[in-house]
Amino acid sequence: MAYIFDDTSRTFGEFQLLPNLTGKRHIPENVNLAAPLVKFREGEEPAVQINLPVAASAMQAVSDDRLATALARAGGIAFIYCSQAIEAQAEMVRKVKNYKSGFVVSDSNLKIDSTVRDMIALVRRTGHSTIPITSDGSPNGRLLGIVTDRDCRPDKVSPETPMAEIMTPAPILATGHPRMDLSAANDAIWKNKVNCLPIVDEDFRLVSLVFRKDYDDHKRNPNELVDAQKRLRAGAAINTHDYKDRVPALIEAGADVLCVDSSDGYSEWQRETLQWIREKYGDSVNIGGGNVVDAQAFRYLADSGADFVKVGVGPGSICITREQKGIGRGQASAVIECALERDKYFADAGVYVPLCSDGGIVYDYNIVLALAMGADFVMMGRYFARCDEAPGKKIRMGTTMVKEYWGEGSSRARNWQRYHEAGEDHFSFEEGVESYVPYAGKLEDALAITVSKVKATMCSCGALTIRELQKTARLVRVSGLSIREGGAHDVIPRDEEYPTYK
Ligand code: IMP
Repeated sequence: MAYIFDDTSRTFGEFQLLPNLTGKRHIPENVNLAAPLVKFREGEEPAVQINLPVAASAMQAVSDDRLATALARAGGIAFIYCSQAIEAQAEMVRKVKNYKSGFVVSDSNLKIDSTVRDMIALVRRTGHSTIPITSDGSPNGRLLGIVTDRDCRPDKVSPETPMAEIMTPAPILATGHPRMDLSAANDAIWKNKVNCLPIVDEDFRLVSLVFRKDYDDHKRNPNELVDAQKRLRAGAAINTHDYKDRVPALIEAGADVLCVDSSDGYSEWQRETLQWIREKYGDSVNIGGGNVVDAQAFRYLADSGADFVKVGVGPGSICITREQKGIGRGQASAVIECALERDKYFADAGVYVPLCSDGGIVYDYNIVLALAMGADFVMMGRYFARCDEAPGKKIRMGTTMVKEYWGEGSSRARNWQRYHEAGEDHFSFEEGVESYVPYAGKLEDALAITVSKVKATMCSCGALTIRELQKTARLVRVSGLSIREGGAHDVIPRDEEYPTYK
């Protein structure tokens, strides 16, 4: 007969935190949310830490280069999805690694014979009013001049006026070179009394633009997650099929951390993948494994060489694996069991293998619950899919704005590798759905609110670090009635539409 666990499969919503004594030092400014991303030996520091305990899912609807850049700038890390061609994924990694804070690739360019009519249409579309005029109208064409909203009063000139007549020509523009850092670019901006400094290479091809306002923007990001050369950190997902080609390309592109993306990581394919990487690269490549939901599977991946282990089968908002295959476990139970095993592994082997709780975060406080249960960081898909920087389209739905969000196991993503572990040669059923999520604006703003709530909760728990929270948090199971008591109840809400996401 099958083995039957005594415990019921439980999820985050079934737990709450009890407040611990909050001391005077327990204020949000003192909370440190740094977390280890990869394994380390007792007494040593992990080779890679993250400044916020959040990672973005390896999903087409979540982690492209734009979101990865925004999240690294905020202190977390994204895993760029592998459900795409190897070269396309490597190019995304390269873009994150080559990102220079404050140096933006221009998205509003025209040719010398473009007209004021073209210019007005472009400004309306992009909202940007500094327009480089390049030889071929591309962001990296030879720079011929620049037009800004101060060069032309559209109501006073003919719509057919060409750019050549109104632009400031390149020879009299102040420009910078690609080796300039932001502080030098800013000095040039001030010295030349301009608002924008075009960066051009030795052939006078446009590389990027630096704006006066972006310099302050940079100073606002003290948490930025960077490598030793001050480049943003980028994660990238791999699968267990084409890893022998994909891994070298991603390493070459500069990926800092890799992760095997699989809905069921307790497999020989995964062990082979991890071991191949260890044999070829030793410890110089960071590689996470997963997903698993129990102690046995955690140890299997840790023994196979995983630098961190991802936990979660079925908790994802777009996931229907449990319905389709009957496989999975409530996320709280999975995290708690794997965290206990992680601690045992640490005691046995002297190696701490960080744990990532992947999927199922609905409320901000769920992050604190996951951390208190032993996770070192969480991975979120739905959360980030709501942000401006995520790849999904923004759509108006009735009176609200939403963004598209689809699972990697949906037919839209057709991520064959991920759902291919058992070796079937066709995509026979879906394990994810296509959906919409409420639009949340800029990642930086959404995350700032989340972080302030996480810090406030940690202060109530009397913890200033994640480690401390894991050691001292007290959790209690909740009844259905106490959950009801926790929301606004027995009053008539003033807003007609009571928000479902707080
Ligand atoms: P969410 O944050 O609750 O939306 O969960 C995101 C997580 O769901 C991802 O990090 C993946 O582990 C998982 N996931 C992504 N796509 C699928 C799918 O199509 N089916 C099942 N799980 C998925």
